[in-house]
Amino acid sequence: MSNDRTQPLRLGVLASGRGSNLQAIIDAIENGTLHARIVVVISNKRDAPALDRARKHGITEVFLDPKPLVGRPDTREAYDRALLDVLQKYEVELVLLAGYMKIVTSVLIQAYPQRIMNIHPALLPAFPGLDVQQKALDHGVKISGCTVHFVTEGVDEGPIIVQAAVPILETDTAEELSARILEQEHRLYPQAVRLYAEGKLHVEGRCVRIQKNESRPIPSTDAV
Ligand code: GAR
Repeated sequence: MSNDRTQPLRLGVLASGRGSNLQAIIDAIENGTLHARIVVVISNKRDAPALDRARKHGITEVFLDPKPLVGRPDTREAYDRALLDVLQKYEVELVLLAGYMKIVTSVLIQAYPQRIMNIHPALLPAFPGLDVQQKALDHGVKISGCTVHFVTEGVDEGPIIVQAAVPILETDTAEELSARILEQEHRLYPQAVRLYAEGKLHVEGRCVRIQKNESRPIPSTDAV
């Protein structure tokens, strides 16, 4: 990816619920720390609060009902084809999964290779899947956290972009731990998107290299 972009990066956000990560992205754009524009928010849940958040900020919101497709042998793929139509209609460049609780199929992944990000409330590759804060407590781990990664066909398996660690306290409930992890998610997701927008993410195999800021060469005194 080149970093000579002048137009804001066009984001499409997929969300199923509360939408606090969506809000963190909206806030970063509105406060000028992220050069991007959310062109559409799509949900598989009609009453997702994420859709209300989009509406409040004048962002196009789309509810895409999965029900009419249930029972088909290719239910998931058919849903993703419908999603893809919307993403392409709005010329989305980068897709963000923000609390999107559906498995993404190869239909979307092949259309947006290394252009779909997800945020997950654990330090991957530990604790993929659901209810991971409770699983971390049950396992007695001392440090958990959150991960932003590119989405590939294996669930929660794609190349890791950035992570933040959160210590686990002996008194923690799943709710308390989730809340502390969420604070870090809200910091981390806009940061990962900014790195992408600036062209600083380079995927090598399953690793993501983050380009450092170029330092100016110090002029040699000999040359003066
Ligand atoms: C967040 O904690 C996010 O990491 C998690 O769902 C929550 C959504 O919150 N995502 C997953 O577990 C995906 N595997 P939000 O709707 O307030 O952003």
